[in-house]
Amino acid sequence: MRFAGKTAVVTGSGRAGGLGEAIVRRLSAEGATVVVSDIGASQDAATPDAMIGSSADMQAIVGSLIAGGSAFPCDVRDPVQVRALAAHAVAAHGSLDIWVNNAGIGYIMKPLLDVSPDDWRAVIDVNLSGAFYGLQAAAEVMITQGRGGRIVNIASQAAKSGFPHAQAYTASKHGLVGLVRSAATELGDHGITVNNVCPNHVTTGLGAWQNAHFAALQGVSVDEYLIRMAARIPMGRPGLPGDTAAAVAFLCSDDATYITGESMNVSGGEEPH
Ligand SMILES: NC(=O)c1ccc[n+]([C@@H]2O[C@H](COP(=O)([O-])OP(=O)(O)OC[C@H]3O[C@@H](n4cnc5c(N)ncnc54)[C@H](O)[C@@H]3O)[C@@H](O)[C@H]2O)c1
Repeated sequence: MRFAGKTAVVTGSGRAGGLGEAIVRRLSAEGATVVVSDIGASQDAATPDAMIGSSADMQAIVGSLIAGGSAFPCDVRDPVQVRALAAHAVAAHGSLDIWVNNAGIGYIMKPLLDVSPDDWRAVIDVNLSGAFYGLQAAAEVMITQGRGGRIVNIASQAAKSGFPHAQAYTASKHGLVGLVRSAATELGDHGITVNNVCPNHVTTGLGAWQNAHFAALQGVSVDEYLIRMAARIPMGRPGLPGDTAAAVAFLCSDDATYITGESMNVSGGEEPH
């Protein structure tokens, strides 16, 4: 029960089978009170219903948590909503100790020359700006509380290596590497650590969409695509949501007090940098 008495917020954690749900369940299983947050409903063409966690999805996850928690809708592209999410954690549960920037979009994948300014902005707004707003809002509350804290971004293998048809995604995730390095230099004095977890492929809703896209690009079936993927990963399989959740739990624990500004690969050895 490493997180008993602590409150955690996980953005983008409403979609069933996603990394966010796994992180919520892991933190809750270790005693944290968790705020499950997601966009809740489609806001525009960049957030289609099929790709997001709904309000009902969020409530279903909260209802199944042993350690309790609450659901709070938040579009991470809006810094006002993000600050309201941080304030909710304190008002509803008494403190804010752990913040995980997990919300992300990864389905806008096109050849370089086809990427429109709207495509570019749609990805950067969620994956990079949304994480910055979350980091800033969480740090403000944690500094005021004066009891330290943990901030973790779910970056990606795309924070370390490049992938075709993923210019904005790759740039947004690389941006998180610079963000934690910079933020760590200012937040250490307050006992707040800020790190990235960099998973390789995991077949979530987002991951399944990417499997279909890359399999079609390579002219193979999704099954064949996944077999080839597993063959190049030293540990012999793609990632699982629990792999990422375990890494987040470690970085949020007292065992990781002296780790900050890092971007930790969780890739079964696939990503060496
Ligand atoms: N699945 C993978 O292979 C993989 C690998 C590396 C990193 N990641 C990263 O992990 C994170 C979670 O992805 P996932 O694979 O679980 O996919 P997912 O689609 O299940 O989760 C993404 C969540 O982000 C939410 N979201 C999207 N736009 C939002 C917004 N504006 N405000 C709030 N929430 C918003 C969605 O509703 C969804 O619940 C993402 O940041 C993704 O880039 C995924």
